Parts: sequence; structure tokens; C-alpha cells
Amino acid sequence: MFGAGMIRNLGKELHDAGIKKVLMVAGGGSIRTNSVHSQVTDSLKAAGIDWTEGWGVRANPTLEKARELIQVARSEQVEAVLAVGGGSVIDTSKAVAAGFYLEDIWNAFTGRETIKQALPVYTVLTLSATGSEMNSFAVLTNTLERKKWGMGSVHIFPRLTIIDPAVQSSLPFNQTVNGALDATAHILEYYFADDTAIATNAINTALLKTIMEMTDRLKVNSADLVARGNLAWCATLALNGLSGVGLKGGDWACHSIEHAFSALKPEIAHGEGLGVIFPAWIEYMSERMPERFQGWAHEVWGEHNVSRALRKFRDKIESWGAATSLRDLGLRENDLPILLEIIMSSRSIGIFSKLGRADIEPRLWDGRRPVCRSLA
Ligand code: NZQ
Ligand code: ZN
Repeated sequence: MFGAGMIRNLGKELHDAGIKKVLMVAGGGSIRTNSVHSQVTDSLKAAGIDWTEGWGVRANPTLEKARELIQVARSEQVEAVLAVGGGSVIDTSKAVAAGFYLEDIWNAFTGRETIKQALPVYTVLTLSATGSEMNSFAVLTNTLERKKWGMGSVHIFPRLTIIDPAVQSSLPFNQTVNGALDATAHILEYYFADDTAIATNAINTALLKTIMEMTDRLKVNSADLVARGNLAWCATLALNGLSGVGLKGGDWACHSIEHAFSALKPEIAHGEGLGVIFPAWIEYMSERMPERFQGWAHEVWGEHNVSRALRKFRDKIESWGAATSLRDLGLRENDLPILLEIIMSSRSIGIFSKLGRADIEPRLWDGRRPVCRSLA
């Protein structure tokens, strides 16, 4: 469900699905200050749905929190998991829903156990970024092992998602930008994979341009609901399957690298990390296979020259006040050895073009401008 005031339908939807009690999963408290919590609980009360609340999911959510909430879901005998928040809250909720029936939820990430069933997942989205509200993936950090890994299952695809873009007016601009950069990255992960999916690439071009335009508008006026709504819809479409239709899959090297950043430093927002890594990856890859990047330069940036398009991309990120270097992200030279080890422990780095240690190591830091003269 999409649009202003839609949260009021939540209780009835749960009631109609025969659900009597839910575990409401939430983050650090933003939903209390922007009235989303009261909108949700009013709707649950009106429909006679019982609930218990599980707070404290942090950004870059942890396996430990998911395990804790699985115990709550079991002891409270809930029949569904209701995520009220951004991607971190939704991913934790998905893990709780699947973990309810597993020996240990981490086994679903390592492949040791297969998800065969899950509690139904419902979501009220408060931050458009990940697309988790309309996909079957979840990403968690195993802090002890310093692994930020993803998993997917059809059983954790949300039964219902409510997106009321108005509730995102409470986002600070930097969080709006993190969301825009994540959505941009989801599209770019597919964009260079295959030039025969012409219709999909045309849709993706339109999404990339719209994300930029709407984010520019929100920089000027955070209450611009038309921009908010269109940005929200772009972010959902960026990772709900549409942006990859007709392709054999995306590349995901930048995502693997970014997940290592956040595994090492959980305070690095996923989208902001991608805003540093993606331009550097394009710079590196376009030196090796320039023809793959011509279409992007021309269609998205109106440039025939990839370097000039890349300059515009970086300028745009900078104009939004986001990080443009590892230093901006808070990483220092002495973090690099462990960072490199975490990156290299990823299951794969890139699909259409696999990256190895020799591709990554020399580009992580050149002293002044960290990573690829530029993962700088
Ligand atoms: O915790 P609260 O208080 O809710 O505050 C959050 C959090 O601090 C705040 N926030 C959310 N909605 C708000 C708000 N503040 C004010 N007003 C609102 N309306 O924003 C902060 C960040 O929230 P978070 O959920 O962490 O952000 P996001 O949605 O970007 O999620 C990022 C996580 O999703 C993973 C990322 O790796 C990261 O762990 N991803 C999940 C994917 C998926 N499931 O498909 C794919 C992505 O590529 C990504 O890996
Ligand atoms: Zn992402």
C-alpha cells in the first residue's frame, strides 16, 4: 500500500489474514518522535490485534539482536513479525521470521540450514533505501566474526508493505541521501551487466535520473511530498526485481566491498559507503572496458566521455554533503589491513567481473585520497 494515511489500514489487513498477535520490531526511537508508532498502535488496537514490542535494532543490524528477538517471538507465541522502520528493522524482522523455525538463524546465512517456512512478515517503511520492503533478502552483521552477510528466501518476502512517504519528512537530509545512494547503487549493480536488456536499461536510466532530481528537490525542501513519494517509489523499484529483469544478475562487487566497511565500522551507513566505492569502481572498470560505460555516461549524464560523467557523478554526491573518500567515512590507514582481510573473506567480489586482492589492495589508499586515487 502506498500513500499518505495508509498506515491506518494495517490492523484490518492483519485481522483479515487471521493474525491475532504480532511482534513489532523497531529501531532506536525515531518512530516515537514522528508519530509512526502511534499510527501503528492505533490501527492495531482498532482491529483488536495484540502485540509485543522489540526495540533497539541498530543501523547495520546484528545477528545477536535477531537471535534475541527470535526468543521473544517464541516465548510470546506471536503469529507474525511486523517491522516498523528502515532496512535494518525490516532485515532483522525477516531474520526473526525465518529463525523462528530454525536451529540458528546464522545457519541460513552460511547455507547450513535451508529456510522452509517463516512467520509472515509485514512492514511499515520509514526510510526508502534498501528495497527490503519488497524483496526477499536480509543482511545481518555477525559482530563476533566480523561478517556482514546476506541471505534470501521466498518465505521472508513481505506479505504487505505500507509506504507512506510523508513519514519520511522527519529524516535528516543525510539519511535521505544515504537512501538515494543505496537505491542508485542497486540500479548500477545491474546497469553495466548486459546491454541487450534495452527496456530494462531504459527503465533504470529513468530511475537513476529521477532519484537524483528528487534528492536535489529534497535538499531544498525536505517537506516536498511529491519528491519524497517519487524517491520512495524509485528506491522500491531499484531492488524489487524490476531493475534486473532480463539480466542474468547484477555484479554486486561494490556491495560486497561496502558490507566489509560496515562490518568493520558499523557507524558507516551502507548508502554513504556505496557513494564512495561506486565511483571508484566505475573509474577502475572503465579503464579496463570503456565501452561498457559509454551508455551510462551518455544516457544519465549527457556525456560522451566517461571521465567527465564520473566527475559529474562525484560532484553530485559531494553536493549532497556525503562522503567522497575513505577518510570522510572515518577510516584511517591503519584500518586497511583488517579491512582488506574482511573484503577478501567475502564469498565473491563481483560477478560479471570478479575482483581479487590484486585489484583491490593497491586501490584502498594512496595516502591523500583513499581508494582508487579515489575509492577516493
Ligand atoms: O533506529 P531509528 O531510530 O529508527 O533511526 C533510523 C536509523 O538511525 C533512522 N530512521 C529511519 N526512518 C526514519 C529515521 N529517522 C527519522 N525519520 C525516519 N522516518 O535512519 C537510520 C538508518 O536506518 P536503517 O534502517 O539502518 O537504514 P537503511 O534503510 O538504509 O538500511 C540499511 C541496512 O539495510 C541493508 C544494509 O546493508 C544495512 O544494513 N541492506 C539491505 C538490503 C535488502 N534487505 O535487500 C539490500 C541493501 O543493499 C542493503 O545491504
Ligand atoms: Zn544496497
